[in-house]
Amino acid sequence: MQWWRDAVFYQVYVPSFTDSDGDGIGDLQGIRGRLGYLELLGVDALWLSPIYASPMVDNGYDITDHRAVDPVWGDLDAVDELIADAHAHGIRVTVDLVPNHTSDQHPWFRAALASPTGSPERDRYHFRPGQGVGGAEPPNSWRSVFGGSAWTREPARDEGPGEWFLHLFSPAQPDLNWTNLEVWADLDKTLRFWLDRGVDGFRIDAAHGMCKQLDATPTSSDDDPRFDQDDVHDVHRMIRATLDHYPERVAIGAVGVRNAARFARYVRQDELHLAVDTQLAASRFDAEEVRAAIEDCLNAVGSVGAAASWLLSDHDVSRPASRYGAGPVGTARARAMALVQLALPGAAYLYNGDELGLPDADLPDEARRDAVWHHGEDSRDGCRVPQPWEADLPAYGFTTGEPWLPIPDDYALLGAAEQLEDTGSTLSLYRRALELRREHPGFAAPPLPGP
Ligand code: NOJ
Repeated sequence: MQWWRDAVFYQVYVPSFTDSDGDGIGDLQGIRGRLGYLELLGVDALWLSPIYASPMVDNGYDITDHRAVDPVWGDLDAVDELIADAHAHGIRVTVDLVPNHTSDQHPWFRAALASPTGSPERDRYHFRPGQGVGGAEPPNSWRSVFGGSAWTREPARDEGPGEWFLHLFSPAQPDLNWTNLEVWADLDKTLRFWLDRGVDGFRIDAAHGMCKQLDATPTSSDDDPRFDQDDVHDVHRMIRATLDHYPERVAIGAVGVRNAARFARYVRQDELHLAVDTQLAASRFDAEEVRAAIEDCLNAVGSVGAAASWLLSDHDVSRPASRYGAGPVGTARARAMALVQLALPGAAYLYNGDELGLPDADLPDEARRDAVWHHGEDSRDGCRVPQPWEADLPAYGFTTGEPWLPIPDDYALLGAAEQLEDTGSTLSLYRRALELRREHPGFAAPPLPGP
């Protein structure tokens, strides 16, 4: 059964959903306690942001062990319990997977720093000598997505001056070298580890990353040697081949590729099951723009027989209720766009809090935590503020402690408990829309013929 082709996935940004132990940071037991809510909302599956061991420079997207749970979220038993309980509620569980990079505290990267030039330990990452006098300039002009150079120089070593290592995101997230077979073998091990524990699939972070053309000179502005290189499709074929040993599991790519034909390549029959469209989230509240985004995506995935999958927001972008305009106008437009999204054929991703119509929080600079902010870019913290559950409870029921990001006072008006009682609320609108989807099957693109 290709359940994912019309599934509604609910993104739980784990730090901000529910805290069960009072440390102010959301966790796995917290999610477990909200399964009743999620069933009432009517979602089919969860996508959990990374739950792995991490120093949390990028809230879990910097990983030191892909096969361990960070104690801040819980432990492996908590994962097992969450999966079992979610399944009992009829909800599947998918988890984020981050194959492009590790943390700079990962044992592999620490070993690389401690090993000589040209050693197998260093070959798992991208180390290069610098340019210019004494190698003081980075190897090339690549920029990091988080701002600044994509290269950081390691400290000087006994054997001589330090080399530079590549990081398409923060310097605490060195990029893995996907021409190294150990890197492939390790991902396969990670996939099987979680599949054996019963996860229903993976959301693959930066799925158009991994392979790069380090020595290429771009020939046009569309030509980005950092991303969307042909070799990345071999990685997705490997992932798919592993998943195919496990019935009904799904690989979903966060594919930041604008060109529709190139986007479609990720969902060919032996690659990802779904690739998350990013064009809808990038569109303004403008009928023509929205229509073009929808048509482009439908044509692209249709050309290879895949289902579309739609996302209005996630933990990296401004929330719809703020993005489409301030105050009640933004809220009304966000509600309208939710209906557009949920009426489209294919899968849909809801970001926790959007079902409550949360706006971005306007945080004071000193409260901001995002790694991007510390690199001089706009911070993504405003869309990551903890979820309000009940207006009368301290921290609105998110935690009994101090929330890791301050929750603005106006979130008191948007608590889930109050919205459940109000038929005119955004939460009620979402519930009804999801009910309508269930009552009108046919949202899925036609299934492919069986093997
Ligand atoms: C994309 C994730 O969505 C984002 O939150 C993260 O910072 C980068 N990838 C790096 O992993």
